[in-house]
Amino acid sequence: MTIQWFPGHMAKARRQVTEKLKLIDIVFELVDARIPMSSRNPMIDEIVSSKPRIVLLNKADKADASITKQWIDYFKEREIPAIAIDAQTGTGLKQITALSKVLLKEKFDKMASKGIKPRAIRALIIGIPNVGKSTLINRLAKKNITKTGDRPGVTTAQQWVKVGNELELLDTPGILWPKFEDQLVGFKLATTGAIKDAILNLQEVTVFALNFLREHYPDRLKERFNIDELPNEVVQLFDEIGKKRGCIMPGGYIDYDKTSELVLREIRSDKLGRLSFETPKQFTEQ
Ligand code: G4P
Repeated sequence: MTIQWFPGHMAKARRQVTEKLKLIDIVFELVDARIPMSSRNPMIDEIVSSKPRIVLLNKADKADASITKQWIDYFKEREIPAIAIDAQTGTGLKQITALSKVLLKEKFDKMASKGIKPRAIRALIIGIPNVGKSTLINRLAKKNITKTGDRPGVTTAQQWVKVGNELELLDTPGILWPKFEDQLVGFKLATTGAIKDAILNLQEVTVFALNFLREHYPDRLKERFNIDELPNEVVQLFDEIGKKRGCIMPGGYIDYDKTSELVLREIRSDKLGRLSFETPKQFTEQ
């Protein structure tokens, strides 16, 4: 799902998230492990400041494992616990409840000391479109959706998803916008498939992706496209890949659109292996 964000939409999305925050104990901020900074909302720290938070680095199965580890440390250093997960297969999900209990121990102990009956931890999943929110909710739910909104006196129908006995999720996630006014962020979101191709110029996205791969993963690029020596100019690289893969127009010209589609498809479907498109180092240096 790709949403075109306008100022009105942004304000509404923020309002909706703020309303939901009143109902919950903890926020699970879902980001894409391949681009943990570019796939978050630029105002997230401020928006969720009132609640404890866990960052879930989703799609970790597609990211460079050593860089994901660096990201976990990066967030920890900023006192935000982070876990690498794969919402599709369920890897890492067990840690979520355990960590939530640790983070909320004081609050729940206090409630118990006041004689309040123990209850499940209530959580909200927040993230930009396509980061895997629905996949995660469905994976955690295992058909345990309980409708609590139709009780007499409850006006807003809010469904809770039970995750074991100790955790409940709001069934509709909080959707926030990415920092798309930054062109580099847009390129990274497009390269990983988070935003639809029609929004950005495909060839420009591919130029970004090829330059990035040439700098950070040259051997993968050589191996995948069977290139002995990477040319200095990205245009020559484009040409070589186009030629090798038969993306040729009548007259023998390289079909750049077709080549772009092919390169991006192969990156997104992990044909070049697990890739990360940003590192903590790049952000601490900034
Ligand atoms: P959203 O609710 O946040 O908008 O995202 P959603 O769950 O719809 O997930 C977006 C796409 O990401 C889905 O692919 C989903 O299968 C995939 N996905 C979610 N979590 C993971 C994960 O941990 N690992 C991997 N490899 N994929 C994950 P899709 O329906 O095929 O959409 P698309 O890939 O064609 O965009």
